[in-house]
Amino acid sequence: MKTKGIILAGGHGTRLSPLTIISSKQLLPVYDKPMIYYPLSTLMLAGIKDIIIITKKMDQNTFKKLLGNGNQWGIKLTYLIQKKPSGLPEAFKISSKYIKNSFITMILGDNIFYGSNFNYQLRQVVKNNISSIFTYKVNDPSRYGVVNFTKNGFRLEEKPKKPKSNFAVTGIYCFSSKVLDTHKKLKKSKRNETEIIDLIKLYKNKYGINIVTLGRGDSWLDTGTFDSLHDASQFIQILEKRQGLKIAIPDEIAYRMKFINKKQLNYNIKNYSKTNINFYNYLKQLKYE
Ligand code: TTP
Repeated sequence: MKTKGIILAGGHGTRLSPLTIISSKQLLPVYDKPMIYYPLSTLMLAGIKDIIIITKKMDQNTFKKLLGNGNQWGIKLTYLIQKKPSGLPEAFKISSKYIKNSFITMILGDNIFYGSNFNYQLRQVVKNNISSIFTYKVNDPSRYGVVNFTKNGFRLEEKPKKPKSNFAVTGIYCFSSKVLDTHKKLKKSKRNETEIIDLIKLYKNKYGINIVTLGRGDSWLDTGTFDSLHDASQFIQILEKRQGLKIAIPDEIAYRMKFINKKQLNYNIKNYSKTNINFYNYLKQLKYE
């Protein structure tokens, strides 16, 4: 089956205002690059080359200017618009024409995943077309959809006041194209949005869903508040400084994943010499590896 990715990069971004009055949240910096590079890299590392980017109308051109059509990274980027933020499941409705008969991985544009175990697990799920959600232990589960593991499997609760576990549902979801039928049955919640937890519940009841529990060696960060955005920047800064390696540079990932050859990589590096001195200096070292 074809595998496709969706990055959902619209939303209100109210918690980051006034920044989000003038910029899409997913274009704000996480240390040394725009936030969207991280979820984009996650999909590329999972081997996904056909990716839809959903944004607000006013931001679409800026995203296009930043990322282009994906050719430079051996991938295909398609841009679609969410007219107003009315829930995460809407991503499937907006993309429906493009994702028929495909295995779909949807990632939230403000979620950062880091860890080789996570990358491996995601790649397996995508390669074998296993509908899955990913859960991660957090300190403050009541902010999230929460997984209660039971004798026979698991149950899901949306932002419970008294969570029965610390396992949050993270912002990456893998579904078969049957999700297109499932989302039609969704009803709006009290906040007048459709909810991803409701979608997962419906899908699970009808088709079943696998759950991947990420371990303590993996990291999952979201960047929706000033504190979490700052923490994410620091996290990336510390890792990059310590290792001298950069996280989420699409050119490097495209080359390592063999989406592009050395000639294309060198071409990209040359282009960066005038526009992006940071990537230029970093990628120049890779050329000789
Ligand atoms: P949230 O962080 O839940 O919402 P938000 O980004 O609108 O921010 P705030 O709560 O501060 O107002 O959204 C998670 C991600 O999903 C984020 O990357 C934005 C995106 N999103 C959409 O693109 N469309 C939507 O309808 C919703 C609800 C979110």
